[in-house]
Amino acid sequence: MSEIPGLTDLRERLDRAAAGGGEERVRRQHEAGKLTARERVELLLDPGSFVEIDALVTHRCQDFGMEKQRIPGDGVVCGYGTIEGRLVYLFAQDFTVFGGSLSETNARKICKVMDLAVENGAPIVGLNDSGGARIQEGVMSLAGYADIFLRNTLTSGVVPQISAIMGPCAGGAVYSPAITDFVFMVEGTSYMFVTGPDVIRTVTHEEVTKEELGGAATHASKSGVCHFTVGNDAACLAGIRELLSYLPSNNLEDPPRGPGSDDPGREEAWLDEVVPADPNRPYDIKKLIGGVVDDGKFLEVHAAYARNLVVGFARFGGRPVGIVANQPAYLAGVLDIDASLKGARFVRFCDAFNIPLVVFEDVPGFLPGTQQEFGGIIKHGAKLLYAFAEATVPKITVITRKAYGGAYCVMASKHIRTDVNLAYPTAEIAVMGPEGAVNILYKRELDAAGAGAAELRARKVAEYREKFSNPYIAAERGFVDAVIAPRTTRGQIVRALRQLRSKRAAMPAKRHGNLPL
Ligand code: HXC
Repeated sequence: MSEIPGLTDLRERLDRAAAGGGEERVRRQHEAGKLTARERVELLLDPGSFVEIDALVTHRCQDFGMEKQRIPGDGVVCGYGTIEGRLVYLFAQDFTVFGGSLSETNARKICKVMDLAVENGAPIVGLNDSGGARIQEGVMSLAGYADIFLRNTLTSGVVPQISAIMGPCAGGAVYSPAITDFVFMVEGTSYMFVTGPDVIRTVTHEEVTKEELGGAATHASKSGVCHFTVGNDAACLAGIRELLSYLPSNNLEDPPRGPGSDDPGREEAWLDEVVPADPNRPYDIKKLIGGVVDDGKFLEVHAAYARNLVVGFARFGGRPVGIVANQPAYLAGVLDIDASLKGARFVRFCDAFNIPLVVFEDVPGFLPGTQQEFGGIIKHGAKLLYAFAEATVPKITVITRKAYGGAYCVMASKHIRTDVNLAYPTAEIAVMGPEGAVNILYKRELDAAGAGAAELRARKVAEYREKFSNPYIAAERGFVDAVIAPRTTRGQIVRALRQLRSKRAAMPAKRHGNLPL
């Protein structure tokens, strides 16, 4: 049987698109430890689900001999497919074609899938591996970036946006991932910076390597730009699949329910002992989290950044939640600038996407010091307060030990419309810790006591502890709804989430608030 006329031509064009920048460049990509754009797409999506869009698009540049180099697809693979059966849109920059650089037409392709993602209420995943703006196209490529930035902004809070940095990402190009909700970085092969080491050497005379300046470890632990670091491309794509399993497809849906095979009422006797009797002894809040969530599974976000606050996703009775927890095992769980920023961003993400918040609180207050004050702890701490107060999703707080001062108010207290506030018998709710309070309240007596000062201080600290270092004054006022045995935490949270399933709460009508930026 003879072939339909033109089919051979079509096949040839598609083959050229599939070949990207050719065998030699693909070999170099593999040698660098990276997969190609198409290999990445295959690994990310359910097998056989990828539908490509704009495979035949080419650039229109007539300068620098570009008219002789047209590769169908023009350096980015775009389309849609499914992850665990759920629709996602994606783009994957192809470093083998002009270094994955962004041209006018290549940007149009990315904008097209972003628009489709919003119209169809599905997440958009961007796999970034690019030399940035296509130099030969000048302002046309810059315009392409700006078109993407606008869409990142308009899409924010409508569908989840996830960026993977799987190669270079420099100059203004970093601002697209920065606006998205989550950034993954592959260790050793990816970097992000606004200006690279060469420019830095010229301008500030600093010597720094690409890795030190903008590698995965730097952005995961120092800048906080990166939420997840992963060892290689395959782990990155698996990580994106896992993250999406907790997220709804858009802001009008509830997060997807998991199997919920773990007993909702499961009690753990060891939890009664998890908070040490000595209020100054640390313990690992992640151990407590692991003991109460479904199957001990907790996807930590920003694990290496501001470790004094732990945030991440888990499930209770199959329902995804966002967990925000002070970490007594790191800096005593104090709130500082970085922790406030980390927490605020996470809380706002959960609120935008109907993910209930569960807070575990053990916080001695905000970190004192000139570094923090000069750095703006006032405005940054206010972001966390604002985020919790603004959030209308179901909110549940469990005070495990310290809830001191402003940090008590901030960490989803009853007063900022948290729905269910629980406390362990070990909870201490007070304006400040006993030692600090006694120094202020009894300053004159202590100064006058001479040799007896130590004994007086110990007595006053004990008195203060007796009065304030318990949850009962708050419980008498209804600021905590119940004092619970730690072993029952899981059942209490599952029940609270069930109760709040159809919660409706709204913000007053306004254009938008003025988050203290
Ligand atoms: C066009 C580019 C390109 C670019 C790389 N290539 N970047 N082509 N425009 N921006 C091409 C190279 O010519 C080469 O083509 C191929 O991609 C691979 O590049 P190599 O340099 O051989 O690879 P490597 O040694 O791995 O270095 C990668 C790199 C380097 C570090 C990314 O190419 C580089 O520094 N590129 C320029 C980065 C940059 O300054 N971009 C502008 C940033 S500012 P052949 O044909 O040889 O394979 C920006 C503004 C955005 O992006 C503004 C938004 C508001």
